[in-house]
Amino acid sequence: MMLSSSTMSASPTKLSLDSLLAQIGIFLKACPKVTLEWSLTVRAGTMSDCDRMTCWVEKSKEAGSQEPLGSFASVAQLLKAIAAPPSVQTIQATQSSISVRQGISVALLEHGIEWRLYLHTREPNATDRYQSWRWRSVASGSDPSSNPDQTGVQADHYGFYFLSATPTGETPIDLVHPLFVDAVQQLVQHERLRSMSGFWLRHRGDQVLQVDLIYPWYPRLAEFDSTLRSLVTTLGGSADWITTYADYPIRHIAFNGKDREPGFTLYFSAPMTIGWPSTLPTLKESVRVQSQKIQQHMEQTLFSRLPIRTTRSKQTTDTRPSVGDFYNTQRLDLWRQVLGNKMHYHFGIFEDCQQLPDKEDAIDAAFDRAISELYPFIPEGGRVYDIGCGWGGPLLQLQAELGCRVEGITISQTQAHYCEAKGLKVRHDTVEETLPPGYFDCMMMIESLCHIQDKLRLLKILRLFGKRLVIRAHCQDRHPASRNFGGTMLMNSSSQLRYLVEQAGWRIVHWQNRRLESMPSALVWQRRLQSIPLSNDQHLETLRDFCNRVVTHWDEWGESNPLIEIVAES
Ligand SMILES: C[S@@+](CC[C@H](N)C(=O)[O-])C[C@H]1O[C@@H](n2cnc3c(N)ncnc32)[C@H](O)[C@@H]1O
Repeated sequence: MMLSSSTMSASPTKLSLDSLLAQIGIFLKACPKVTLEWSLTVRAGTMSDCDRMTCWVEKSKEAGSQEPLGSFASVAQLLKAIAAPPSVQTIQATQSSISVRQGISVALLEHGIEWRLYLHTREPNATDRYQSWRWRSVASGSDPSSNPDQTGVQADHYGFYFLSATPTGETPIDLVHPLFVDAVQQLVQHERLRSMSGFWLRHRGDQVLQVDLIYPWYPRLAEFDSTLRSLVTTLGGSADWITTYADYPIRHIAFNGKDREPGFTLYFSAPMTIGWPSTLPTLKESVRVQSQKIQQHMEQTLFSRLPIRTTRSKQTTDTRPSVGDFYNTQRLDLWRQVLGNKMHYHFGIFEDCQQLPDKEDAIDAAFDRAISELYPFIPEGGRVYDIGCGWGGPLLQLQAELGCRVEGITISQTQAHYCEAKGLKVRHDTVEETLPPGYFDCMMMIESLCHIQDKLRLLKILRLFGKRLVIRAHCQDRHPASRNFGGTMLMNSSSQLRYLVEQAGWRIVHWQNRRLESMPSALVWQRRLQSIPLSNDQHLETLRDFCNRVVTHWDEWGESNPLIEIVAES
């Protein structure tokens, strides 16, 4: 089906977004998961209110449908109807099988219409990709298929980064237009933004076109009143609209990059729940109502339940090395010699606790087994968050062997960079001052809980973000709680650990001491460290001392330091 020629052939001034909205609705309104978005753009002296609308559809296969691509087939039909350039139709068709979400956006320009296709794709065992293609159709003739400017397709790609910086150290402030630096500096200080969100960068080639701050909790526009007013004043326009929209929840704010004309855009979006809107004012109203509901829901179910912070993860007066510095290293080569190629940094699970396997491969398999032994507790294909993910060994294994969608966090910058180079989605930050990026089927803490200062608070927070928690934690049962391992670990007894997990509201469904089967790990690391001369890597030398102590006091250490494996459900 082609869009009606009366729509497409009308002169641009007679075209309205309402009519385009209705035409898009013909194809997309029946899709099961639709999100509608509109935007408001401010440039020097001007404000364009709702000059663009976007409709997003998610991967879905309608019940009983013979069509394997579900909603994406509807997007294909729409692209055909609007006579999108063949290259765009081909991209959409070829990428639909790996698409998670697709969006169609339309804006009225002075001389026609600008269309955009957005694709969010995910290939098996690869990180997600976000791309867009934009083209213009000049609404001049009566045949829509003659309209597109076939040569003018522009492709952009997007990258998401948690605050405060990209892996190469670029911050939003470095990338926005100089007029916006002060405003963006204020905006990125927001605690919620820092703890749970970040920014998108829109790239065209090497150029950053846009820096987009993301507000997953939908704050009301009024919260940005003073920042927006000063931005509008800087751009020389009227700020009256700020009062009109004070009550509207914002989803993201995009600032033009430093090489473009100064301008910024506010985006408003929400899932469609009450049917396809017939006009743009109806769309705006439905987005407002629905996003306010989401905002209220998040306040009630998340923010009001977040436990208060009683300690900071590192006091300014504290002279201990930070855990992040401890895990940063210049000597990846040495660590690979000790940990093996997969860089698992946890105790292995050995089949024979009396004798080390002869072959290095069999030794390495014990470190893989430490993760595969957890497979019964981790849903195949599920979304997994690894807290204290180290060099990404466990995440890569779960991705490859269980098809899990994995994300992690580590306090070490070198580990985060290493993971990123392996294609993993890993945040560099402390879990004590951030929130998990969404809801997970399973969260893991493999030998990382002992580094956490306020364990109870973290365990309470995690309950709000996942169904299941898998922990393996070192405990010390014969000595009071103390700092160990170069002062970086705050050790508890196993009964304290049980108390903390239960006190946080988790229900323990599995509890096992894996110390005996894990003991040979200390022998493996000690032996590998013997071939490495003393180094100035403080962490490596702490591990050397630790292994020597464990091997010297084998039985006593093993008995008093259980390695507790817990599976808990919320
Ligand atoms: C012993 S390693 C375990 C690594 C990984 N789980 C594995 O099994 O290979 C402990 C990990 O916890 C991380 N970590 C410690 N404190 C942290 C914190 N506050 N926030 C995030 N990660 C932390 C360290 O950076 C390190 O990656």
